[in-house]
Amino acid sequence: MTRIITGIQPSGNITIANYLGAIKQILELQKDEQNEILIFIADLHAITVNQDRIALKKHIRELAALYLACGIKTDKCHMFIQSEVPCHNQLGWIMECNSYIGELERMTQFKDKKQKQTDGITAGLLTYPPLMAADILLYDADVVPVGEDQTQHLEMTRNLANRFNNKYGETFKVPEALVNKNTAKIYSLVEPTLKMSKSDPNPKAYIALLDDINVAKKKIKSAITDSEGSIRYDKENKPGVSNLLTIYSALTNISIKDLEEKYKNSNYQQFKEDLANIVEEFLTNIQNKFNYYIKSNELDLILNSGRDLAYHLASRKIQKVYKKVGLGRN
Ligand code: AMP
Ligand code: TRP
Repeated sequence: MTRIITGIQPSGNITIANYLGAIKQILELQKDEQNEILIFIADLHAITVNQDRIALKKHIRELAALYLACGIKTDKCHMFIQSEVPCHNQLGWIMECNSYIGELERMTQFKDKKQKQTDGITAGLLTYPPLMAADILLYDADVVPVGEDQTQHLEMTRNLANRFNNKYGETFKVPEALVNKNTAKIYSLVEPTLKMSKSDPNPKAYIALLDDINVAKKKIKSAITDSEGSIRYDKENKPGVSNLLTIYSALTNISIKDLEEKYKNSNYQQFKEDLANIVEEFLTNIQNKFNYYIKSNELDLILNSGRDLAYHLASRKIQKVYKKVGLGRN
């Protein structure tokens, strides 16, 4: 059996980049009988920056419904909310006590977020990677599907697992990141050299899975390209067109080569029109399913059973870890 775990922060509008970078990989992995998949909503991670209480609650529930709407199968995947399994905080603290401030300060995501933070940088923003390591190591995960922006945190997780194992004896499995090289980094539609981010202040930069369909189509049609006019993949010189080709290819499973051939005599308008229609079909399908799940009490039952399984696995691990570290009386 291979155990797989992944999480997304409920910190904004889940985007097509989250889908292509992380969720789509799970849709593939769940086809394999040998895989056991844990998916969680990383709400503890979301509060490393300021969150409105009502909006956070809403985003947590929406993310759960979106995972299901995207096609996550509940017989293969166990879905839960991070804060409902307190073992994450317990192991998180132990991981913090095995992390060094220097290595945390070197994390690219910390450096980026620190710059954007106007109202103070919380300690949580700095100590986020040890909590992420705990999320993964608690379950002895073999594989962690993520986008490229998380590979540094995965490396840190591996270091922490090895560090702990060397210090206290074999305790944790050392996990591997699983990054789909084609969709590891989807770029902003307005600044195609920056990553598409769900917390971008400019909503034109991303396609949210819950965007109004017409708004989403407009975003594709007004995506930044270049003045050359030819539809070919060239990340250096044509980042905008290359990004649209990546999205088109990932949503249709048509290779970029075949798309270049198909559009070799077309202009950007035609290409964008077609992609806008593909996005429309993709979002309509997800949103129809989302509207069902968000209202159904099935959602709570799924989250309850995910929480119970996660707690069962994680609490056993915590007991072992506490013993090894010498905490408490047992
Ligand atoms: P986050 O939005 O930071 O909670 O990310 C959730 C998942 O989506 C992680 O696996 C990220 O690596 C992935 N992800 C986020 N942004 C992108 C992007 N622009 N391209 C590809 N994957 C992404
Ligand atoms: N840090 C991830 C992100 O921002 C979310 C996350 C938290 C995660 N814990 C995880 C992803 C564990 C994979 C495994 O995208």
